[in-house]
Amino acid sequence: MKDENQTREALKRLEDLFSFSLRDAQQFIALFHDEMQRGLAGKPGSLKMIPSYVGRPSGHERGDFLALDLGGTNLRVLAVRLDGEGKARITAFRRWVIPEKIMQGTGEALFDFMAEGVALFLDQMPPDSPQLRELAFTFSFPVAQSAVDAGVLLNWTKGFTAKGVSGKEVVALLSAALAHKNMPDLRVVALTNDTVGTLMAQSYTDPACDMGVILGTGTNACYPEKAGRIAKLAHLEADREVIVNLEWGSFDRIQMNAFDSALDSHTLNPGAQRLEKMVSGLYLGELARRVALDLIDAGVFLRQEARIIFEREQAVTSEHLSQIAEGEDVLTRLGVSGPTSQDCALFAGVSRVVTTRAARIAAAAIAAGVTWMDADLQRRHTIAIDGSLFEKCPGFQETMEALLIELFGDRATGITLCHAADGSGIGAAIIAAVAAGALRQI
Ligand code: GLC
Repeated sequence: MKDENQTREALKRLEDLFSFSLRDAQQFIALFHDEMQRGLAGKPGSLKMIPSYVGRPSGHERGDFLALDLGGTNLRVLAVRLDGEGKARITAFRRWVIPEKIMQGTGEALFDFMAEGVALFLDQMPPDSPQLRELAFTFSFPVAQSAVDAGVLLNWTKGFTAKGVSGKEVVALLSAALAHKNMPDLRVVALTNDTVGTLMAQSYTDPACDMGVILGTGTNACYPEKAGRIAKLAHLEADREVIVNLEWGSFDRIQMNAFDSALDSHTLNPGAQRLEKMVSGLYLGELARRVALDLIDAGVFLRQEARIIFEREQAVTSEHLSQIAEGEDVLTRLGVSGPTSQDCALFAGVSRVVTTRAARIAAAAIAAGVTWMDADLQRRHTIAIDGSLFEKCPGFQETMEALLIELFGDRATGITLCHAADGSGIGAAIIAAVAAGALRQI
């Protein structure tokens, strides 16, 4: 019979295993700076530091744009209106869940799926709506950009494996798919990462914004850098601002525990995206599931009959972890019959240690970015953040803020974490406006 002591001890062990202490955070920041430095200098390392060919907006960009957003779980198409006075509005919007067979099929099928989404969206626009000829493409994967409207996919992340896309120029693939679906007039004028979109969207209205972060299916960030610090851009004026996509999901100078390693070895990209696998929504539920199985086997959680529920990969999702944090009885929802209050407390504890570590690592990465730009925290910094984990997981933001206070004391008040909803789509439209040189009348 399980007793309270066993539950408490099991929890204590997990807290130790998933701890990310202040000292860990300080070491993390130093290593992170080192990797940033290497990435910018073009040396081998785990942060790609990809220049995006755009700087922050002025707030005067205007026009109507179409945005296509392929990020994690969903494909989204949006019509965005920029009024030229720092206000952006989504005027129409559609979203489709991306079927696994499309994510993991052929590149052709994936790009056809995207073009089909655009066609369906445009068909349903009211006839009196403004003509949308310029499309901004948010493609949230590691892409080596060669211009504001061109870039080559380096490798897939977040469970995508569509064949024949890595190493290819993705705007060309999209343009071909659009032409194939009889939309040859639509011009792809901008290619962006979701983090860059999020930074652009927030800085359209808030000049203190200097970091865009995604905490959703995947995780990543970008910030404005001086061209002079980027080896690849040695030909530009040294002071020119360029937004750099860190691709921080692949940061690998971080200690994994046995559960992290087991999870990693069962993914489609073992060994890659180490930080992402400890922080982002695609993986946190899976991490909790693996811990739960281990606790069942150790005889401290549920009964053996419940094991089958936890044997299926992805049986626990990050949405479940959010529901647990809201106090819901997720065990019953998963099909466990009659969980005891100790079972519920232990499962809540598992969820808490996994999400707390994620939030603390994310905050440490933000702290690293901010101190890279402003070592003594002399300025205000707004961090624009989007993604389901940040938005929907209760306590996530507060846990992040708590680590910033541990690190910086009172000076942490100069760092504001702010939710930039739909930033990636809106921001893509802003980039399109900049790219299209559009200071025109609506
Ligand atoms: C993954 C992608 C990255 C993206 C992030 C958030 O880490 O590689 O490009 O920004 O997910 O969606």
